[in-house]
Amino acid sequence: MLNKQQVMALLKSVNDRTLNLTLAQTNGVREIQASKDSDQIRLRIAIGKLNTPEQQEIETEITAKFNRLGIESVQIQFEAFTEKELEKLNEKTREIPSLLNSPNQPCFIAVASGKGGVGKSTITVNIAVALARLGKRVGIVDADIYGFSVPNMMGITNRPTLKGNKIIPVESNGVQVMSMGFFVEDNEPVIWRGPRLGKMLRSFFVEVEWGDLDYLLLDLPPGTGDMALSVHQMIPTSKEIIVTTPHSTAAFVASRAGRMAINTNHEIIGVIENMSYFESQLTGEKEYLFGRGGGETLAHELNAPLIAQIPLGQPTEKDSSIYSTEHSIGQTYLEVAQFITKHY
Ligand SMILES: Nc1ncnc2c1ncn2[C@@H]1O[C@H](COP(=O)(O)OP(=O)(O)OP(=O)(O)O)[C@@H](O)[C@H]1O
Ligand SMILES: [Mg+2]
Repeated sequence: MLNKQQVMALLKSVNDRTLNLTLAQTNGVREIQASKDSDQIRLRIAIGKLNTPEQQEIETEITAKFNRLGIESVQIQFEAFTEKELEKLNEKTREIPSLLNSPNQPCFIAVASGKGGVGKSTITVNIAVALARLGKRVGIVDADIYGFSVPNMMGITNRPTLKGNKIIPVESNGVQVMSMGFFVEDNEPVIWRGPRLGKMLRSFFVEVEWGDLDYLLLDLPPGTGDMALSVHQMIPTSKEIIVTTPHSTAAFVASRAGRMAINTNHEIIGVIENMSYFESQLTGEKEYLFGRGGGETLAHELNAPLIAQIPLGQPTEKDSSIYSTEHSIGQTYLEVAQFITKHY
């Protein structure tokens, strides 16, 4: 028969996946009852969240550990930590050294919008590359876990490598990149939801060897959903760029993303209006295909500067969304990068 110390020794390394801490770290083992004839054990264990797939995984892991020692009957009663206990444990998680709490943190910049398809990802990769062109050390976290597009936009075909148990990001155009797209086979859809998404995002910071960075850009999924909220909570120091098209409805919807930033105390660096106009190469005439004024209205409403108005135009290079420095849009991105380095 196992004594309590031996049982504890078996349990202490089990990961409470709902918190990403071991049971030793959470002090989650509440009660151990081992029967005299040794083939039965009862446990009461506190975890971060009940009735989740993670709870099931914890149960399977613990049961297997005892089964291997010939203890067939393992009964586990799970209970949830109280709010107060959770608060303390969250502080503990924050103590894990990572980019999120290192003393020389980069400047985090999230690129957000209310609507999809307004150009967040295009703008994220081009600002990142422009900052790198100015000699800054830059990373991108593609926080659009379902709709990742950064690897494709940067023409990345290779995958990250491992150093020990840390993931080394992929470098492209002088920028370090991490994306869910690296871990998905053949563009299969990702089916994770809320808590798992948040955990994935956290592991992009905790498990990735970023090295020293000056700026870390986050390409957010559209809207003010789960992921945007996770970013807001996980990176309280993050600043934001809000993207809109010139259409007044788009600006109205984008203002929701902006207000979310304000509510979570994220500083708004400014607004970028994308697809502002189309300039005829023949006559130089500008056509405002999607209306006018959205960016200005939004900037005014959010009390932030309108940093740039980016016209419609294709990058010169095939299979890449990066504008070269010879391209007028590439120049605009350099100006945006200069604005950022000057103020942040
Ligand atoms: N200034 C521009 N001129 C021409 N095409 C553009 C411009 N900006 C973005 N696009 C194109 O518009 C499409 C949508 O852009 P992008 O994927 O960057 O938007 P998004 O806001 O990230 O979208 P999602 O909400 O789906 O993540 C892409 O095909 C992109 O190449
Ligand atoms: Mg995108």
